Amino acid sequence: MDLAAFSKPFETSLKWLEEAKSSEVNDPTAMALATVNRRGAPSLRMVLLKGCDEQGFVFYTNFESRKGEELQANANAALLFHWKSLRRQIRVEGAVEVVSNDEADAYFASRPRASQIGAWASAQSRPMAGRFEFEAEIAKYTAKFGVSDVPRPPHWSGFRLKPNYFEFWRDRKFRLHERKTYQLSDNGAGWHTQEIYP
Ligand SMILES: Cc1cc2nc3c(=O)[nH]c(=O)nc-3n(C[C@H](O)[C@H](O)[C@H](O)COP(=O)(O)O)c2cc1C
Repeated sequence: MDLAAFSKPFETSLKWLEEAKSSEVNDPTAMALATVNRRGAPSLRMVLLKGCDEQGFVFYTNFESRKGEELQANANAALLFHWKSLRRQIRVEGAVEVVSNDEADAYFASRPRASQIGAWASAQSRPMAGRFEFEAEIAKYTAKFGVSDVPRPPHWSGFRLKPNYFEFWRDRKFRLHERKTYQLSDNGAGWHTQEIYP
């Protein structure tokens, strides 16, 4: 990937992600996703980054889950990467858009078959009587799809968070850390850079 083709905050994000891939014990692309409900109360959970370029940060999920419902009602969201091995964090804020059907289909098709079946079998975030109920759903969809391709469920797709704000944080001795922010200009044409106190 030619990082020089990206604007600075995307270039730095991609560079730090690459470095994390060599240094993290697991899940270097894991990020916390913050959403808010209709009353403005926030909630957080981890998701995996499945695409990052100048258009934004892509993750996939069940659209009937808590996060799915919240994002469809209020597109404002925030992401947080923290890599312990690098002692770095990135905060990203913006609004999400739903990815295209073609993009979601292509990613869904690349997933292991058991994960594809799981996307049909899991009523993510809703009450479950017990593990047996989930296993019965898995067995049902395994039988239903037999040996044919598993289609993407209508309730399963991706969101692309389009950033308007980044903050890059690097650890320094004695908690005298480095923080650098990028705010998208009102016309969306460029990034305003600012260092802020740790
Ligand atoms: C490292 C990690 C990665 C995860 N990645 C995803 C993901 O990409 N998509 C997803 O729907 N859930 C993912 N999960 C599970 C979510 O954190 C969460 O439990 C689930 O999506 C339900 O969240 P909700 O009830 O807020 O919608 C991941 C969990 C962990 C710990």
